[in-house]
Amino acid sequence: MGRIIAVANQKGGVGKTTTAINLAASLALAERRVLLIDADPQANLTSGVGMRDQTSHGQSIYAALTAVDLDVDLAPLIRPTAIQGLSVIAADRDLTGAEIEMVGLLAREQRLRRLVRPLADRFDFIFIDCPPSLGLLTLNALVAADSVLIPLHCEYFALEGLADLVATLRRVRAALNPSLDIEGVLLTMYDDRTNLGQQVARDVRQFFKEKTFDTVIPRNVRLGEAPSHGVPVVLYDVKSRGAEAYLALAREFLERHARRNSMQGSAPTV
Ligand SMILES: Nc1ncnc2c1ncn2[C@@H]1O[C@H](COP(=O)(O)OP(=O)(O)OP(=O)(O)O)[C@@H](O)[C@H]1O
Ligand SMILES: [Mg+2]
Repeated sequence: MGRIIAVANQKGGVGKTTTAINLAASLALAERRVLLIDADPQANLTSGVGMRDQTSHGQSIYAALTAVDLDVDLAPLIRPTAIQGLSVIAADRDLTGAEIEMVGLLAREQRLRRLVRPLADRFDFIFIDCPPSLGLLTLNALVAADSVLIPLHCEYFALEGLADLVATLRRVRAALNPSLDIEGVLLTMYDDRTNLGQQVARDVRQFFKEKTFDTVIPRNVRLGEAPSHGVPVVLYDVKSRGAEAYLALAREFLERHARRNSMQGSAPTV
């Protein structure tokens, strides 16, 4: 069974989508089978992999999430990308309505889980890119997931709001998904020339301890440019610091995964 990972932080612009695309692409280059699911109505992930406006009506993650029938098959929505082994389920702006429409539906927090779990044996890793809120779409992603990866922008307010996220994780564990783990906390847009960046990194490591990835993603202009070309940064400029950082993150991610698989039954922390 593949591991399902929600990329979440209710703060906007912290690097969730950039991390989902570039970690997934780097894992696919390491010959893993990876699926990206865009669960954000902004559909930034969808355009970041060059698939904007390619979803057709009636065939979208929105339609699947809001269908009366609970047993819709997501498989027909899976699209290949320019990278072998990397597939995508795209979103479109219709998804904005899903948050409201799902409220009245049966098992409204479980809908994405029911859709995604049947795909898990076809992939090694499935990443769900969440919107910047703790609303019903993020909740669905946390209920569907085995773990959550939390990108944190290295800036003054980085830790603000984290208490809300941690409280949400506890609530989800208590009521809906007891085995939800923290995959890792990732420092993004790091600038080692500033004291502030270093201070934030220290604070985050103190709070999340070994859950914090050793790999840090630097601020790198190539990471910001790649989405406008509709490709992961490894296809845009493989020698950039941004590409190197996400390739290093993929290596660390796989090492941690191997270590976790060899250790059984450790209880989630935080
Ligand atoms: N390491 C980086 N260096 C430079 N620019 C970056 C980096 N990471 C992300 N960006 C840019 O910063 C912006 C926000 O990143 P991204 O879209 O990944 O954040 P997000 O958390 O998904 O945002 P949202 O909350 O709106 O979904 C984007 O324009 C992206 O290209
Ligand atoms: Mg995003």
